[in-house]
Amino acid sequence: MTAQTLNELFAQGLKEMYFVEQELTDALDALAQEVSEDDLAQAFEEHREETEGHIDRLEEVFEMIDESPEGKKVQAVQGLISDHEEFSEGDPDQHVLNLFDLAAAEKSEHLEIAAYGNLTFFADQLGLDDAADLLEENLREEQETLDELKQLTEAYDVSSVPTA
Ligand SMILES: [Fe+2]
Ligand SMILES: [Fe+2]
Repeated sequence: MTAQTLNELFAQGLKEMYFVEQELTDALDALAQEVSEDDLAQAFEEHREETEGHIDRLEEVFEMIDESPEGKKVQAVQGLISDHEEFSEGDPDQHVLNLFDLAAAEKSEHLEIAAYGNLTFFADQLGLDDAADLLEENLREEQETLDELKQLTEAYDVSSVPTA
């Protein structure tokens, strides 16, 4: 059923992020295993752990609005995951794959940042101050992760990446 009120739109957004965070837990695990550089693997692994915390905070917010936690499918995140699958199945050079994975993770952070920015605003508008605080904590961790991923990309030793 399509959301008709701000409360319903807020609840739908929470469900979407509940789905997204669960998909990303598995995806980050896969990325951490597949990259060949320790600093990348560690960044993905650390964010996977943070992602479990994001799920916990979402569950707290569901409780605050008397909804049971449930996911709603988000095709955008499924698309990112299947794009990655297709790429990695094509037997890419390992360094090229490392850079692809960094970019894919950055895309997912942008999606999360947009979603949590919206949800924090909606929670504020609905007078759900405690919920807004929790959602803002998730938002802050996504922003910090995006910054870290960008730094890892920009620090990548591209002399090892084939150019032609
Ligand atoms: Fe997250
Ligand atoms: Fe994230």
